[in-house]
Amino acid sequence: MSFRLRRHSSKGIVKTILSLAVLLLGSACVSSEPQNWLVASGDNAAILKDLTTTILYMAAVVFVVVEGALIYAIIRFRRRPSNGEALPPQIHGNSRLEIAWTLAPAIVLIFVAVPTIQTLFYLASPPPAQGDPLRVKVIGHQWWWEFQYPDLGIATANELHIPVGRTVVADLDTADVIHSFWVPRLAGKTDLIPNHPNRMWFNAKEPGVYYGQCAEFCGAQHAQMRFRVVVQTPSEFQSWVDSQKRPPVPPASDLARQGEELFMGKAACFSCHTVDGTKAQGKVGPNLTHIGSRLTLAAGVLDNTPENLATWIKEPQSVKPGSKMVVPALTDDEVKALVAYLQGLK
Ligand code: CUA
Repeated sequence: MSFRLRRHSSKGIVKTILSLAVLLLGSACVSSEPQNWLVASGDNAAILKDLTTTILYMAAVVFVVVEGALIYAIIRFRRRPSNGEALPPQIHGNSRLEIAWTLAPAIVLIFVAVPTIQTLFYLASPPPAQGDPLRVKVIGHQWWWEFQYPDLGIATANELHIPVGRTVVADLDTADVIHSFWVPRLAGKTDLIPNHPNRMWFNAKEPGVYYGQCAEFCGAQHAQMRFRVVVQTPSEFQSWVDSQKRPPVPPASDLARQGEELFMGKAACFSCHTVDGTKAQGKVGPNLTHIGSRLTLAAGVLDNTPENLATWIKEPQSVKPGSKMVVPALTDDEVKALVAYLQGLK
């Protein structure tokens, strides 16, 4: 028995590759993708998007001209039987040509450099005056984000709340290694560098939840160092601030009270975490005073549900291998009690 390749199989392969390419390109343009920087929702991101599209159009013109010249040359100067074995005219040492193809790319690069440098300086200078900016301090940790509001006296983790339309000035610092703050739909990346405080500004045009991500490799859980930016109307933001300023809710049930005892005792959570107004004043892990009100756990990795919180407390190393969260062995009942306590901290 013998196999014969079908005559049109190469056509089939080309078709498959083309369809895959169209599918990939198409999926890259889906606007609902939460980290799609092409769907800019803030001035900082929009400026970067404009710069990139401007350069993309210039590159498209260069591409068409260069490839057009190439195809023209291939056809026009192809080898013909009438040429015999004679060499075509040689252009080595043609000064005019060499000057032309040195100058042309230099001019193209000037067109790329001018808007790029303008944008760099614009984004690096203080934000355009838009009223009173909101100051936040962003501190990167392996592998979570600390957000402090120095003027409001509150702090949160992995979830930055900001009012829509108001400019945010972020001071970026790190507790350990280099990280990079990136909210693709709101702002370009800025690094958090040890002993080198950085500053950047951004705003958001529409309320919603925007995804952020550490954009500088920082160790085992770099990819899981995520966060959310919750953009709210000014009144929603104010009531969020008020709720964060309130002292933690006291445990409402026996189970939650038992959880609080474990937190402050056997489970030793207090040694790394802060719960305002209690003996828990640890600064190693996120402040948990209002953890019950947050959207996610473990730096944006898990939705904040009782089941996920139980998993995270019981097996942090299986959720995020390498995580600095260390918990002594606990029974399922003890985990339940801790979950009841923490979920109540709204
Ligand atoms: Cu922090 Cu990557």
